[in-house]
Amino acid sequence: MTTLGVNVDHIATLREARKGREPDPIIAASLAELAGADGIVVHLREDRRHIQERDVRVIRETIQSKLDLEMAATEEMLLIAREIKPELVTFVPEKREELTTEGGLDVIACMQSLRRAIDRLHESGIVVALFIDPETKQIEAAAELGADCVEIHTGRYANASLHSKVQKNELLCIIEAAKQARRCGVSVNAGHGLDYQNVIPIAQILEIEELNIGHSIISRAALVGISTAVRDMKSLIAKAALSPHLSSA
Ligand code: PXP
Repeated sequence: MTTLGVNVDHIATLREARKGREPDPIIAASLAELAGADGIVVHLREDRRHIQERDVRVIRETIQSKLDLEMAATEEMLLIAREIKPELVTFVPEKREELTTEGGLDVIACMQSLRRAIDRLHESGIVVALFIDPETKQIEAAAELGADCVEIHTGRYANASLHSKVQKNELLCIIEAAKQARRCGVSVNAGHGLDYQNVIPIAQILEIEELNIGHSIISRAALVGISTAVRDMKSLIAKAALSPHLSSA
């Protein structure tokens, strides 16, 4: 069954609104795990707008599952990752002015620097994913660079109206991209914008191993508590496993 990585950045966003001590993403990570999260995801941004370095270090020490550290492929972040050693690093594009990650990496435009960054993490035994749009050329480039995994950006699918033709086309692109990545020997995660209304068709794609979900779970958690929010998402993903897309042929 597809696994669930819970992104706790937005707990830190709330804390940083007052520059105080609560709510604590470290506690949120443990509660998410207790409710069934298969992994914890944090994005340590260059501008430190939500998650701080200490959060990553303490989450690394306290969680029982695995840590996916999202980050830009910069020298500063590579040094931090090599020291903290998360199970997975996902390289994402980062712009200071953006509200959240917009679009996937342009792997083709950054082949040299990404190759060096991937090699540096591999030297430390860290598995590397590239966050990319569901496009053939980006997947080919990711495979050529020796990325272990791609995380397919589901933002265009998520932003389209529910059940619209645009959304159905985006779903087909994601299915094709997932199949292509697997044919290239690269494992597949997916995420961005997934919520309780749109997650099932994505969770039905057999080639996708893990979904990374943050905003919708933390938003629901604000009203019903993080345990209920994570359990609700896990049960939708379990429901999807009963009727997978026949996409692995
Ligand atoms: N995957 C990546 C690479 C992301 O950058 C984000 C947002 O931080 C997510 C998944 C989660 O997106 P959302 O918060 O919309 O669920």
